[in-house]
Amino acid sequence: MHFDPDAIDQALKHNPIKALVAPRPIGWISSLSPGGTANLAPYSFFNLICDAPYMVMFASSGHKDSFNNVRATGEFVWNLVTENLVHEMNASAGHYGPTVDEFAIAGLEKAPSHKVRPPRVAQALAALECQLDQIVPLKSDDAGRCNSLVIASVRHVFIDDAAILSGRFDAAHARTTARLGYFDYTVVEDTFELKRPG
Ligand SMILES: Cc1cc2nc3c(=O)[nH]c(=O)nc-3n(C[C@H](O)[C@H](O)[C@H](O)COP(=O)(O)O)c2cc1C
Repeated sequence: MHFDPDAIDQALKHNPIKALVAPRPIGWISSLSPGGTANLAPYSFFNLICDAPYMVMFASSGHKDSFNNVRATGEFVWNLVTENLVHEMNASAGHYGPTVDEFAIAGLEKAPSHKVRPPRVAQALAALECQLDQIVPLKSDDAGRCNSLVIASVRHVFIDDAAILSGRFDAAHARTTARLGYFDYTVVEDTFELKRPG
């Protein structure tokens, strides 16, 4: 079949694009408002985009609290979502105002970061402390909505010692969780190695 990405009311009940570009890592973003209120929310328009230096991105559909905080303060933390934290991650996606601390809503503890001010999720097995590099405005089909791409450099890495097996972070052991389409998620359960051609 063929599908117009912008049309509705076609043969498929739901747009399949997010289900095709999957699994997508979840950027579970913690940030601080200029007034010091902690914020936590998941972003699956998220990825590692570069090394030397290591850089990550997340894209905000509209200017949400995470975007506003990062634009104002220049800092955020990426927290790893694992299977044991999916309900907390989902709870942090609720539409709360900028004065609401989603750590409290989701029943999560904060742990201090090393190089940035926003805290990390204490229960998360890994976290990347990030400093804003640039914001790229994205075009929007909705005249009232500004979409934006946030690009940041990784300044510090935290990994729980329990998640290191034989000197490597083991995603299957951690049960790293990623976003599929619709309301679906997947958990890393099986990995295999494929060496590049010499
Ligand atoms: C798994 C998941 C992934 C999401 N990914 C995005 C995303 O990439 N971009 C976005 O704008 N919203 C995304 N959302 C919705 C935001 O998390 C939601 O709007 C949230 O309230 C934003 O919080 P904030 O205003 O505190 O930043 C996602 C929600 C879930 C559950």
